[in-house]
Amino acid sequence: MLFFFLLLPIFFHLGCVIYFHFGETFKPRQFEHGFKKSYSTVVAGLDYSQLDSALCQRFTYLGRGLQMTAFISEDGNYVLKFFHPRIPLKSNWYLNWKNWKRTYSLKWISTNWFQTGRRLEKMFNRLKIAYSVLRDETGLVFIHLAPSDRVNHFVHVIDKQGKAHLMNLNQTPFVLQKKAMIASDYLDQLANENRVDELKEAITLIEQLFAKRLKLGITDPNQNMDINYGFVDGRPIQIDVGRIRSEPILLIEPEEEQKRILDNFHKWLSNRYSAKGLEK
Ligand SMILES: Nc1ncnc2c1ncn2[C@@H]1O[C@H](COP(=O)(O)OP(=O)(O)O)[C@@H](O)[C@H]1O
Ligand SMILES: [Mg+2]
Repeated sequence: MLFFFLLLPIFFHLGCVIYFHFGETFKPRQFEHGFKKSYSTVVAGLDYSQLDSALCQRFTYLGRGLQMTAFISEDGNYVLKFFHPRIPLKSNWYLNWKNWKRTYSLKWISTNWFQTGRRLEKMFNRLKIAYSVLRDETGLVFIHLAPSDRVNHFVHVIDKQGKAHLMNLNQTPFVLQKKAMIASDYLDQLANENRVDELKEAITLIEQLFAKRLKLGITDPNQNMDINYGFVDGRPIQIDVGRIRSEPILLIEPEEEQKRILDNFHKWLSNRYSAKGLEK
């Protein structure tokens, strides 16, 4: 009997983990967080000009990361992204013992259960930086991080299972971004079609994006071309700014970070396209 009572919290925790973090069912009300004071972030100079034309369209499920679920507009030009209320678990998380261990760690419990506001606050701040100083480099069209009378749209979204939902955007933090072609797909396409000069040009443009970011004292721990970067009309954008950070020291001493980023990028390139004569 005592044994049973000792196990009860463990089973309770497991139940909560599965109920709140697992599964791909999209429930609009979970994403209509509203804007709590602790993370609501006012952004100066918001450009509302494309909101009406973008949001009168229907959006269909596109993809999902740890922080956001993304939907693509009917015309294929925009992506609308909503912030997960809690970090989701990947569909086969239970196959790996390490994931079980992680979900029972104090760090995981504290981040996922007691610091959800803090997580959103960090993300909102990073998006604010990106929108303010890297708008072209991130393809951001609009970010809704604080309540606004001017955002009172209702939008139809079709989830991964094909089910339609009506979302009240007035109560929903969101990101509206240009739809990009994932960077590795774009570079692969140029490589496969033997468009070597365009491939070299695309690579130079990505390097310029890194350089521009560093010049502003901003960097990112990793540059994943397979999921977090893309191309829009032949120009690169950073799709996912969820881990950028602003470090004033980079304004004075960018060299080491620049080397780290370029070395990683060049290693990735040479593994992938060494046969295309890209060696410098
Ligand atoms: N602007 C976009 N263009 C094309 N695909 C996108 C865009 N934004 C998001 N996606 C897709 O949705 C996924 C999740 O979006 P992302 O912004 O990376 O969220 P997270 O911060 O949760 O990783 C991306 O890996 C990508 O496949
Ligand atoms: Mg991502």
